[in-house]
Amino acid sequence: MLFFLDTADIAEVKELCETGMIDGITTNPTLAASAGIPFTTLIEQMCGLVEGPISAEVVALDAETMVSQGRKLAKIAKNITIKVPLTPEGLNACQVLTREDIMVNVTLCFSATQALLAAKAGATFISPFIGRIDDVSHTGMDLIRDIRTIYDNYGYQTAILAASIRHPLHVLEAAKAGADVATMPPKILRQLYKHPLTDLGLENFLADWNKSALSI
Ligand code: E4P
Repeated sequence: MLFFLDTADIAEVKELCETGMIDGITTNPTLAASAGIPFTTLIEQMCGLVEGPISAEVVALDAETMVSQGRKLAKIAKNITIKVPLTPEGLNACQVLTREDIMVNVTLCFSATQALLAAKAGATFISPFIGRIDDVSHTGMDLIRDIRTIYDNYGYQTAILAASIRHPLHVLEAAKAGADVATMPPKILRQLYKHPLTDLGLENFLADWNKSALSI
């Protein structure tokens, strides 16, 4: 499973790249607006830090403007992935950009039939928003399972990018459901390392070792 960081915080990306666990980055307009630097600067800096896909989202409602924004952003680096919304216009833009060999991440996916359309449009990634579905009292993870079944039934190569991940259990369930990628805030990645029995076990091992005359 690939791990992407869902953030516009350059310092966090730098720090977490040290873990060797980061395969890509996703951003969205809300995250970008909080970064405090120009959008293209932000994306350029991300591309300098991570070799894998860096999602940069267009901010338009019509396909023509999405394509033109997408082409402009794609010139920043070869690992740029253009994020378009799951609308008829977004999927038209997806088809144009895909034909130009630009990676496309179709975002704001809330149903399996939307995901089927994105695969038919040639999307590189589909982003089902798990947490936001849970927020309205439905089971977000069912969407990942349905998309996995549909894509496998027809051999679609579009990667399932589990998004809107809010806690480690979402990562676990997405992995079990066969999502190809999980994108998560930095805090969640850090939480994945944690288990109280690991901390306690390590403390005890070191205490016992230190009481002995052993050395390495
Ligand atoms: C993914 O690409 C989105 O940026 C993100 O996962 C949205 O998460 P949220 O629902 O927590 O805002």
